[in-house]
Amino acid sequence: MESSSQGRGGIEIRPVYGPADTAPELEERLGQPGSFPYTRGVYPTMYTSRPWTMRQYAGFATATESNRRYRDLLAGGSTGLSVAFDLPTQMGYDSDAPEASGEVGKVGVAIDSIDDMRALFAGLPLDEVSTSMTINAPAAVLLLLYQLVAEEQGVSPAALRGTIQNDILKEYIARGTYIFPPAPSLRLVSDTFAYCAKELPQWNTISISGYHMAEAGATAAQELAFTLADGIEYVQCALDAGLDIDAFAPRLSFFFVARSTVLTEVAKFRAARRLWAHIMRDRFGAKDPRSLKLRFHTQTAGVELTAQQPEVNLARVTVQALAAVMGGTQSLHTNAYDEAIALPTDTSARLALRTQQVIAAETDLCETVDPFAGSYAVEALTDAVEAEASELIDAVFAHGSVTAAIEAGFQKGEIERSAYETAKRIDSGEQIVVGVNAYTGNGGDVPYKPLKVDPTIEAAQVERLRERRSARDGATVEAALTALREAATGTANLLYPLKAALAEGATVGEVCATLAAEWGRYVPPDSW
Ligand code: 3HC
Repeated sequence: MESSSQGRGGIEIRPVYGPADTAPELEERLGQPGSFPYTRGVYPTMYTSRPWTMRQYAGFATATESNRRYRDLLAGGSTGLSVAFDLPTQMGYDSDAPEASGEVGKVGVAIDSIDDMRALFAGLPLDEVSTSMTINAPAAVLLLLYQLVAEEQGVSPAALRGTIQNDILKEYIARGTYIFPPAPSLRLVSDTFAYCAKELPQWNTISISGYHMAEAGATAAQELAFTLADGIEYVQCALDAGLDIDAFAPRLSFFFVARSTVLTEVAKFRAARRLWAHIMRDRFGAKDPRSLKLRFHTQTAGVELTAQQPEVNLARVTVQALAAVMGGTQSLHTNAYDEAIALPTDTSARLALRTQQVIAAETDLCETVDPFAGSYAVEALTDAVEAEASELIDAVFAHGSVTAAIEAGFQKGEIERSAYETAKRIDSGEQIVVGVNAYTGNGGDVPYKPLKVDPTIEAAQVERLRERRSARDGATVEAALTALREAATGTANLLYPLKAALAEGATVGEVCATLAAEWGRYVPPDSW
């Protein structure tokens, strides 16, 4: 289908809007803040009673080093934690696996076993802070390790608050850290919904993510459509597994990008809430109002940052964060200005957090709810994004299911087409990127020393892992892994045998390899 290529945000914006541009029954389509269809926000008072959660994504090198960064962030006023795992952990490999070589601790923290998880959260108040973990294929594994550590600290699972990303569908579409094929992966997701409803009722079981699709080039409407389509697929799978919608839907959460195209992004966030409320009520018959509310985390757009004149990124991040806040986000990560070059340094990480604090404390944006409501332009754009996204959701399901559309390469193809259009506009100079294809002169770059991850940490991590393996009771671990493998062939909830194996000291790599032995590893279709 043809998506509009006009306007930087991928949606047409006209020079002037007026009363005729807002469709009739505006009040009904808006509702009150905190009421259906939640266009104006999920809470009646929004930031006037509590600002969004300031949640900076962080983690690198060892668990101990990352723990230090989390303490700094909390001491500096962060109000939530967000854990970045290294690639081997995300792919379910231990640090000593050949596949992990050269990657340990690089883009996030290396977690092999409960020992690392203990070090990661040592001294952090897990009953007070909410923790997001960006982990997908092995999401259940890391969640259970978190629960085990909290239990050791004397914190009840019922008190634990946080989010696992657990969004495997977008891994096949845009991000790439999948392990198993779609069917068993989706079973693991449904099992996690059921487990959390019973054991960790305050935990957000999934963060259905458009961010990575946007980073791969999706327009606002594509990001929204493919994300909500994934949400529909997860809900359908859970219903097919026999779960009650209102038992799990209140703990679904979302994750979007905020780009510098402020008006389009605000429209996108408002359209997202309205669309999801209708989907949950009208398509799935959800009754609990909490099931209808689209709560979301936002990260400012990494792809819009530039390695040239990196300090200019501070201005971009500020504008992007404003879009997220004016769109009613629940939680926000502001990128550090140097993230296009390397992992943030202590200084740049602090500046990124301070940007949020300036917006929360020094502007007037926390004094009223949904400040754009009634704006001719933003209401018209909200309708336009909603209409285009609705059409695209239908186009996804015309393939039969999200999984079928993924296998046909539909979402990836649409996103790649948009990415190509944007690249062409930037190459031709039609789309300006300050410091890159315009205003490149007068040099004077600010001296910058990137953060370097200590290259010796891989060997040290491998050594610790080997010590840990030799210290445990091999026969007990083996028996727990056998029980896990047997459970993988049946239909009972997998998280219970998984937790038992991890408690015995089984590693992330071992439990993932056990499941992969039963389910196989996913290989993308050749056509990609
Ligand atoms: N009135 C009344 N109550 C309010 C309120 C208000 N105005 N504002 C907040 N509250 C309450 C809420 O009801 C909630 O209580 P509850 O849990 O009992 O319902 C509590 O205060 C906390 O508020 P929120 O739920 O709004 O905020 P949280 O921060 O706890 O949760 C979330 C936000 C979006 C639902 C959650 O899923 C979340 O935190 N997500 C973060 C995801 C994340 O950080 N991802 C990182 C991804 S990085 C990545 O992918 C890496 C790379 O590849 C880019």
